[in-house]
Amino acid sequence: MSDIYRRPDEYDLEHVGDEEDVIFYVSLARSLHSKSVLELACGTGRITVPLAEEGARSGFSVVGLDSEGDMLKQARKKAAQMPAAARKRLLLVHGDMRKWHGRDPFDLVVVPCASITHLLALEDQLEVWRRAFQNLAPGGRFVVETVMPNFSAYADSFANPPRTLVEIDRDVTDEPRKIRLIRRRTITYLPYEQRTQIRFLYEKYHRKSLVESYIDDFESHVYFPRELRLLFLHTGFEIEDLFGDYNRRPLRASSQLMIMIGKKPADG
Ligand SMILES: C[S@@+](CC[C@H](N)C(=O)[O-])C[C@H]1O[C@@H](n2cnc3c(N)ncnc32)[C@H](O)[C@@H]1O
Repeated sequence: MSDIYRRPDEYDLEHVGDEEDVIFYVSLARSLHSKSVLELACGTGRITVPLAEEGARSGFSVVGLDSEGDMLKQARKKAAQMPAAARKRLLLVHGDMRKWHGRDPFDLVVVPCASITHLLALEDQLEVWRRAFQNLAPGGRFVVETVMPNFSAYADSFANPPRTLVEIDRDVTDEPRKIRLIRRRTITYLPYEQRTQIRFLYEKYHRKSLVESYIDDFESHVYFPRELRLLFLHTGFEIEDLFGDYNRRPLRASSQLMIMIGKKPADG
């Protein structure tokens, strides 16, 4: 698991300006007339908190589940800042998405931000799909978002000898605190495992002085579109939609992500 999940302030800093996904999930919950939404792997509540705020307006409740205590603590801090009406709509729970079972069924279960790539074993992935199915009411939706395989980024892994390019993929500043976080990234693709080894090299500056640098190494499963489809079909879902971006455009060659929506059959 990524070490950045023990640094929730820096996780949030990395995501400064990422609003498209928040808008997507909030409007999805609204347009489906959801009554109860479960966000798996909710982290610091980046999406969960705006969902609960929308829940207060549109009349749905939200449960956010995460296995990392520090991320949830940050989510709780943010939730405490929300108006009372939204606070009443939100429950944050410590748990594992492979195992957690709610008391009442949900009509929408989402896994945003490629969190599903943290599960490396097929059996663990299947557990999440099966749990989502059990946690849904008949007719409910399960939404899984992940990144598209990036063959150009993997190409260097096939060079002989293999090469590893280092690229800066995040450079963000927390203006009030004058903290700048620069993230460099290397990716090594393991074709026989269908996973990437990702190394993030972080540098944290205060004004222009380096205050800390650290390395975060983790592995990530690479999903292919047809495999995602099979996971849904194998666990009893119908495929309702497949988007290639947050504007709900279809998946195509240039898509960088895929968002698949499975529906639990109404008689399921
Ligand atoms: C990329 S973050 C996404 C957080 C949040 N959904 C967002 O969009 O910012 C991935 C999250 O997955 C959580 N996670 C990883 N494996 C998990 C598991 N088996 N059960 C629950 N949460 C898990 C991590 O703790 C982390 O908070």
